[in-house]
Amino acid sequence: MYFCTYIHHTMSKRYTITAALPYTNGPLHIGHMAGVYVPADIYARYLRLKGHDVAFICGSDEHGVPITIKAKNEGVTPQDIVDHYNANIKASFKEFGISFDNYSRTSAKIHHETASEFFTTLHAKGEFIEETNAQLYDAEAGQFLADRFVVGTCPKCGNEESYGDQCEACGTSHNATDLIKPKSAITGATPSLKETKHWFLPLDKHEAFLKKWILEGHKSDWKPNVYGQCKSWIDDGLRPRAVTRDLDWGIPVPVEGADGKVLYVWFDAPIGYISSTKEWAQKEGKDWEPYWKDEDTTLVHFIGKDNIVFHCIIFPAMLRAEGSYILPTNVPANEFLNLEGQKLSTSKNWAVWLPDYLKEFPEKQDVLRYVLTATAPETKDNDFTWKDFQARNNNELVAIFGNFINRVVVLTNKYYQGIVPAPDEFSAEDTAALNAIQSYPNILSSSIERYRFREASQELMNLARLGNKYLADAEPWKVVKTDPERVQTIMYVALQISAALAVVSEPLLPWSSQKLKTMLNLDALSWADIESRGSLLKSSHQIGEAHLLFAKIEDSEVEFQLEKLAKSKLANEIANKEIESQKETVSFEDFSKLDLRVGTIIEAKKMPKAKKLLVLQVDTGVDTRTIVSGIADSFSAEEVIGKRVTVLINLAPRALRGVESQGMILMTETADGRLVFVNPDAAHDTANGLKIS
Ligand code: MF3
Ligand code: ZN
Repeated sequence: MYFCTYIHHTMSKRYTITAALPYTNGPLHIGHMAGVYVPADIYARYLRLKGHDVAFICGSDEHGVPITIKAKNEGVTPQDIVDHYNANIKASFKEFGISFDNYSRTSAKIHHETASEFFTTLHAKGEFIEETNAQLYDAEAGQFLADRFVVGTCPKCGNEESYGDQCEACGTSHNATDLIKPKSAITGATPSLKETKHWFLPLDKHEAFLKKWILEGHKSDWKPNVYGQCKSWIDDGLRPRAVTRDLDWGIPVPVEGADGKVLYVWFDAPIGYISSTKEWAQKEGKDWEPYWKDEDTTLVHFIGKDNIVFHCIIFPAMLRAEGSYILPTNVPANEFLNLEGQKLSTSKNWAVWLPDYLKEFPEKQDVLRYVLTATAPETKDNDFTWKDFQARNNNELVAIFGNFINRVVVLTNKYYQGIVPAPDEFSAEDTAALNAIQSYPNILSSSIERYRFREASQELMNLARLGNKYLADAEPWKVVKTDPERVQTIMYVALQISAALAVVSEPLLPWSSQKLKTMLNLDALSWADIESRGSLLKSSHQIGEAHLLFAKIEDSEVEFQLEKLAKSKLANEIANKEIESQKETVSFEDFSKLDLRVGTIIEAKKMPKAKKLLVLQVDTGVDTRTIVSGIADSFSAEEVIGKRVTVLINLAPRALRGVESQGMILMTETADGRLVFVNPDAAHDTANGLKIS
C-alpha cells in the first residue's frame, strides 16, 4: 500500500547574485550605490528572508589602465592604489550594510589561478583566434596604448575625448585603432602603429546562440533598456574581441609566446565573480560548483548600464565557450543617477562620496538607502537632490513610518507596561488592517521579483501609511477615556502592523528593521510567517522601550551639503577657465605712450536704458572729466563714488550712447571671475596673474 503525502513548503532555491566589481581607483559614491549595490542588496536580503540559498558575491576590480595611470600620476605603484581603495571600498560597504556573502579582490591568488585556468581551457579548446596586427604604440613611452592609454575622437559620435576602449559620451565600445586623431594619454604624442600578437574571442561564432538566447528568449523578462542595448549590439554584427593586452599590470597571459602581455581587464574581472564564490565556499566548507554550474541555480548580475555588453554578450560567450557554466537568468542593469541636475563625476568632484556621507550622517544608512531606492534610475537616468533627500526623510520616514511606530510603542508602554494586550472583538476596520498585513508580503515580492525596487519602496511606505491612518482614525488616546477595552483591540492590531513592518522592511531598511525588532522584542521572522500567522505578536508578549527610528534632517544639514557642491563647482570653473594666450609684444616706446594716472571717482550715475554702463566723473589730478565705464553689472553707482582708480587719460575720446567718454578706468578679473578695480592703493587686489581688461 502506498501513502501519498503532500508536504506543503516553499521550495528553497539556489541563487548566485553578483554585484559589479568596483574599480579600485576611487571611493564609492551614490551613483554606484543607487545603480548597483542597493538594489542587489535588497534582492539578496529578500531572497534570504524567503528562505532561499543565496550567494551574494562581489569584490574589487583591481586591474585595468586607469589604476596604472592614477599610480603614475601619484608616484606610487598600482598595488599601492588598489590596496588603499580596496580597504576603503570594503569598509564603506560594510558600514553601509551591504550584505555580501563574500567580498574578494582580483589581485587575490585564487583569482589569478581561476582566470588563468579559464583562459587556458578556452585556449586548449581552440576557442580563441590568434592574430598579429597593428596596434597603437607610443614610441616615446616605449609602450602600446591600450584602452584608456589613448584618447581621440569617437568614430560614432564625434566626442573628442573618447577613450580607446569606450566612449563615455555615447557609450559605444570600440577598438583603440578606431579612434580618429588618437593621442597618447601618457605623453600626448601621436601614436604610431606597431605589430603585436593578441588572442581574440570570436563573438561572431556565438552570434546565432546569443540571438536565440537573448532576442528570442529574454524579450519579455529582461528590462527594455538591457534588451535594447543587446539587440543593437547583435544587430550591428558581432566581431572578434581582443582579450589580451600589451601591459604590465594584470594577469599574465598563461600561454607560450605571450611575454609582456596580460589578460584584458574585462576578460578577468567577471571571472572574479567565480573566484570570489570559490573563496567563499572554501571559507564556508561548501562546494562552489553548484552556484555556477547547476542548471537549477538562478544567476543574476546587478550592474550599471555601461556594463551591459560585458555581462550580456561577452561574459556569456566566454561561459558558453568554456562549456560547463550556467548563464545569467537576468541582468537588471540600471541607468545613471545624476546629482543636482548634473552628471556625477569623480574628476570634477561632483558626487556624494559614501565615506563622507557615513561620517556626516551617522546612523542614517537607511535614509540614503530609502532615497536612492525611491528615486532609483531603473528605467531612465534620474536626479538626486538634497532637497528631495530631506523631504523624503522628513515627510515619509519620519512623519509616516517613524511616527506610527513611535505612537504604538509609547502607548503600549504607557497603557500596558509594554505588554501586548488581548484583543476583544474585531471591527471591520480591524479585520481590514489584519488582512492587509497578510497581503503585503505578496505585494512586495511581486515588485522585488520583477526588480522594481522603487515600487517596492513605495509599497513598504504604504504599509506604514496604512498603520498611521489606522491609528489616527481609531484614536486610542481619546477612546481610552471612555472605552479602555476597545483600546486593547486597537493596540493589538497596531502592534501586528508594527511587527509586519519590522519583518518586511528588512531588505530595504535593514538597520531600522533591526532597531524595530529590538523595540518589539521580536524574534527573527521569515516572510512566510507574516503570510501564514494570524498574529505576529501574541498577547502577553513583552515589548521594549521606544526609541526614535528616524530623525528629522534640518535645513542647515542640507545647506552644508549644497555649499560643498558649490565649492566643487567653483573649483572646476577656476580649473577650466581658458587662459587667454599672450598678445603680441609691444615696444617700450609704445607702452610709454600710455598716460596712466591715479584718479578718484567723484560722481557716478547709471546711464539711462543701458544695463552695463555707468557715467563717471573722475578727478584725474589734471582735470575732472567724464568717463563711461561698462561695470554696472558688477558695481552700483553708489559704491564706486570715492574709489581711487587707475585711469588711462590719453585714450582717444569716444561717444557711448551719446556721451563722450574721455579715458578708461583700468579693471581686472579675479581667478573666480569677479571684476575688480586696478586699485592704486591695494596691491593685493591686482595680484599676479590677473589680466588688465
Ligand atoms: N569595474 C567595472 C566597473 O566599475 C565593473 C566590473 S564588473 C565585472 O565598471 F564583471 F567585471 F566584474
Ligand atoms: Zn561616442
